[in-house]
Amino acid sequence: MRKHLIYIKCLTTMTFVFVVNAFAAAPLASKVYKSISVIPLPQEIIKLASEFEINRGTTLSASPGLENERDFLTRTLQPAMGFSLPQVKTGGNIALVLDKSLKLPESGYLLNVDHQGVRITAETSAGVFYGIQTLLQLLPAEVYASVKQDAKWKVPGVNIKDYPRFQWRGMHLDVARHFKPVAFIKKFLKAMAAHKMNSFHWHLTEDQGWRIEIKKYPKLTSIGSVRKETLIGHLLSKKTKEFDGIPHKGFYTQEEIKDIVAYAQRLHINIVPEIEMPGHAQAALAAYPEYGSNGQKYSVWTQWGVSKAIFSPEEKTISFLKDILVEVMALFPSKYIHVGGDEAKKDHWENSERIQSLARDRGLANMHEMQSWFVSEMASFLQENNRRLIGWDEILEGGIADNAVVMSWRGDEGGIAAAKIGHDVVMAAHTNTYFDYYQSQDKDREPLTIGGFLPLEKVYAYNPVPKQLKKEQHKHVLGAQAQLWSEYMPTGKHVEYMAFPRLSALSEVLWLNDEKKNLDDFANRLSYHFHRLAVMGISFRPDETYPKEQGNGQKVALKEKL
Ligand code: ACM
Repeated sequence: MRKHLIYIKCLTTMTFVFVVNAFAAAPLASKVYKSISVIPLPQEIIKLASEFEINRGTTLSASPGLENERDFLTRTLQPAMGFSLPQVKTGGNIALVLDKSLKLPESGYLLNVDHQGVRITAETSAGVFYGIQTLLQLLPAEVYASVKQDAKWKVPGVNIKDYPRFQWRGMHLDVARHFKPVAFIKKFLKAMAAHKMNSFHWHLTEDQGWRIEIKKYPKLTSIGSVRKETLIGHLLSKKTKEFDGIPHKGFYTQEEIKDIVAYAQRLHINIVPEIEMPGHAQAALAAYPEYGSNGQKYSVWTQWGVSKAIFSPEEKTISFLKDILVEVMALFPSKYIHVGGDEAKKDHWENSERIQSLARDRGLANMHEMQSWFVSEMASFLQENNRRLIGWDEILEGGIADNAVVMSWRGDEGGIAAAKIGHDVVMAAHTNTYFDYYQSQDKDREPLTIGGFLPLEKVYAYNPVPKQLKKEQHKHVLGAQAQLWSEYMPTGKHVEYMAFPRLSALSEVLWLNDEKKNLDDFANRLSYHFHRLAVMGISFRPDETYPKEQGNGQKVALKEKL
């Protein structure tokens, strides 16, 4: 992501004035829910004249196998409504029903609300879970609060048939540049689930910090998770670099990771862990320099950019990394394991006699082929363990490993090339999905970022299936995801500010069929959705109109909110 400074030049200079229509100035608590404003928008909605009231007398039933979904609904409603819905075995006023005969697309559901009650039907628990998320968004925003209010809430009558466009609806988070605590990760996952996102790409290792406990190699965290200090300001802003003098540290224990993985599973989110190799390895090599390429001693990097520190392609290093992956696989049930592969500077490989001779022995023509050999070793190892390797689009260089999935970040090109040769891809083009870019061109009002410009409307306009692909190649596009690189996001609040509402826009890109997308309609729904985000306690980036009642109509420096 460090490289994307060079791309900033070619980003469009489209001006973005996003005016949310018809925003009511009423105080939040009394804002009456008026129309259907679900994000992401369901595929098919028929509005009915009738409505249903949820109150103390409303009963809840769930088919066997839906205990998690029933508990999710009751745990969400109880604190907000001030009471628990009484449960019955079958035929509740709110009924969660598994029906294997529906023949809906994967993770689809039906939601029917009329004067008799609410019925959510799906073939899978995931489908029911998404039906519940839609139901919650048919209720007032206060449903996400934890203030007891003895509520009586009207649900508008609807017949909804819904299913996602893509199976990979992802959000990435870099916790290596700036560590984020467990409580924040859980809050973030919950907000993702409210948007029907289902893949959390957890970027756990970097030059600037190693954040996952590996029992066999304890120095990865005792040394690799601590940096002495951090660069102040933007990497390119000053000739003489200044540092804050404050140690930055943090890592997740294996127990914490198990807890987070289980939490995510209950939200139907798969966590894809990323262990970077062969580059972005400086923190690991600070702990275990013997696996580096030129005998250099390192300390955990204190500045941004791409370090030249690179794992050596020798057998002992491959074994070390496989040992790490064994522990990673034991923690993460994900079919996909991310091994990075991006921005590996090969200087230390090029300049090493030892590594040049290794290349000759292996019949490799150059260092791209050496990286390809390296990644193929990992791909085979993961495959032997019934997992699949995923990597950034550099894994195409020098020849892509069998069965590897490509995450296309430098644009759509990597994804196009990979899909054309039959590989699955996840689209993550920086131009439309790098949420570390500025949200406005009025940079003085914004918190410092890496650069770039990615307004909400450009996220919304993204179509993860490039035109260049033939129809029969579309199946290789698993979906897309946004990236949150955290060099300039020291706190959870910063992350939320950069993520929302762009994540809301992306959720619709990933869920709703492209021909049904409509920016104006999305903007109208977003004006209500901001209330939900506010009740969830998310420090989203307000637009110029939000919230009028709190005086943010004036041009205040948004960065001061953080
Ligand atoms: C990346 O931004 N280096 C994937």
